[in-house]
Amino acid sequence: MTQEKTEQDQTRFPVPQTLAQSARCNADDYQRLYRASIDDPDGFWREQGQRLQWETPYTQVKNTCFDGDVSIKWFEDGTLNASVNCIDRHLPEKANDIALIWEGDNPAYHHAITYGQLHDHVCRFANVLKNMGVKKGDRVTIYMPMIPETAYAMLACARIGAVHSVVFAGFSAEALANRIKDCDSQWAITADEGVRAGKSIPLKNNLDEAARSCPGLKAVLAVRHTGATVSWVDGRDYWYHEAALKVDSRCEPVVMNAEDPLFILYTSGSTGKPKGVLHTTGGYLLWASITHDYVFDYQPGEIYWCAADVGWVTGHSYIIYGPLANGATSLMFEGVPTWPDVDRFWQIINKHKVNIFYTAPTALRALMREGDAPVERHDLSSLRILGSVGEPINPEAWLWYHRVVGKGRCPIVDTWWQTETGGMMITPLPGATDLKPGSATRPFFGVKPALVDAEGQIIEGAGAGNLVITDSWPGQARTLYGDHERFIQTYFSAYPGTYFTGDGCKRDADGYYWITGRVDDVINVSGHRMGTAEVESALVAHHLVAEAAVVGFPHDVKGQGIYCYVTLNAGLEPTEDLARELRQWVRKDIGPIATPDHIHFTPSLPKTRSGKIMRRILRKIAENDFSNLGDTSTLADPSVVDSLIEGRQIR
Ligand code: WT7
Repeated sequence: MTQEKTEQDQTRFPVPQTLAQSARCNADDYQRLYRASIDDPDGFWREQGQRLQWETPYTQVKNTCFDGDVSIKWFEDGTLNASVNCIDRHLPEKANDIALIWEGDNPAYHHAITYGQLHDHVCRFANVLKNMGVKKGDRVTIYMPMIPETAYAMLACARIGAVHSVVFAGFSAEALANRIKDCDSQWAITADEGVRAGKSIPLKNNLDEAARSCPGLKAVLAVRHTGATVSWVDGRDYWYHEAALKVDSRCEPVVMNAEDPLFILYTSGSTGKPKGVLHTTGGYLLWASITHDYVFDYQPGEIYWCAADVGWVTGHSYIIYGPLANGATSLMFEGVPTWPDVDRFWQIINKHKVNIFYTAPTALRALMREGDAPVERHDLSSLRILGSVGEPINPEAWLWYHRVVGKGRCPIVDTWWQTETGGMMITPLPGATDLKPGSATRPFFGVKPALVDAEGQIIEGAGAGNLVITDSWPGQARTLYGDHERFIQTYFSAYPGTYFTGDGCKRDADGYYWITGRVDDVINVSGHRMGTAEVESALVAHHLVAEAAVVGFPHDVKGQGIYCYVTLNAGLEPTEDLARELRQWVRKDIGPIATPDHIHFTPSLPKTRSGKIMRRILRKIAENDFSNLGDTSTLADPSVVDSLIEGRQIR
């Protein structure tokens, strides 16, 4: 451990006195509840499961096995409906309370939706889906911007037992088509256009392009958002605003088993094909609800804002399911942090008197660059708790967030989790946990983290290794859609008997966890998870490219940038134009988030004699670190390394 790291570990921000008294969980409560959750998971979750409203109460609680075929079941004989839990059960007391605040990309637009109105919208939406022919268990692809109808669509699926698969609106037609096909989705919901930073995104047209390679798609429901003219297929396409007139605002919820699927969400892995992570109804909803409650210390009446996109798991768990299950007021923002101006976030916090704010380090780093003035122009005194998610937060960004945004008053909850975990796993609790900038701190109730070395030996006490979770928790993904074998392979084979997270991690002498980043071929670009293999397969699909290898490199704002080594077909000369073309090509194939930062043309790649690309070397060179290339003697042609270094130094 370096000197610098040791000092860093010792910077502590104790729980503010007032919070220690007022929060729903103080340090003693945490110790007691955490102990109970580990000593007697069955008893602990039997009691916590009561947070939800069940149609048929469960008698079984935990039935999970990480060995062999891997089987994960929670509350397996209970039945419930997720939309009832997020809406109907709040109606007796909260029909007039605000469920969602929508803030448009254009600062002139905003409106609020009460729980009563949410009920009507969701029922109508559900009835429209039923009229189209959508049935329990069907997969429905949702390719939507950040508008309230997206929440209605998700909850409407949940109401009728359909399984939603939300595809981030920044993905290309091609990426969308792959996701529609992978889960045999016959139904899709989209909008005419999305709007971000004043620019429109042609969602319906993209969907139409995707649909050309998806013969299984039976019907498309389009929400009118901007009013743009869009392409149309008669007999297949329906306008939501027309269909909604023909249905009423009551819709009986379908009773679901706790282990019936709630949604699929695609995420990147270390191989090319995205993985359809599957979450089920009971355990997931309980996890989203309990973590939202404890981690944000949500108090009735507070305005809570998670600035993620619903296209990612953060939006699922912490814009929709968690807060709504808790009867909270959740703000949904259509736009971006820097438009019309770099103070957009701070303006929204002041405008809606936001109490709890949750965002990603990449956004903070971008805003930090603009200095303190844009923050200080606004009164942010409503803020009480700040959150961070998606990637490691560097201490500089943490300290800025704490000092400038939170005025030193607001605890920062740095929440480590993944699409696969359903919700937060390692995180501070505001009234219980002293903070250390850059550490996600301690495990949530029921979470048993461990560090393992390369041989799979568990590391005790302070140390560093790969992060595994040794027992199941209710929010855990149950499988990968249609590919349980891959689920077992990806998560349970590296260290048998445990769930392997793919992250490296260190634990200090106080038992605090410090996530150091992915240890597989996954990179984290602006908090978005990206498989390097996906970018590689896009590159090699170009007719002039012979071979490609993609690695991450440190990037000031994005956390990691995308660095591509490209070998052209024999006889071709690299040009700036071609580099530009390849960047565009990848962007078109996957989406803007995958746009390469660097294209490094090279006559060959460093390979072992057995033909394996030595990525370790490529990573070092991309990082501009030529001193520590390690053992290169196993390379088939060691001179490749020198030419790569030379190529790096030129740019
Ligand atoms: C990966 C999961 C968590 C929901 C959004 C991203 C990284 C996430 C943290 C954090 C350090 C973090 C990990 C993880 N990550 N949160 N607080 N500190 N790293 O979900 O797309 O499934 O990505 O994001 O590397 O494995 P995801």
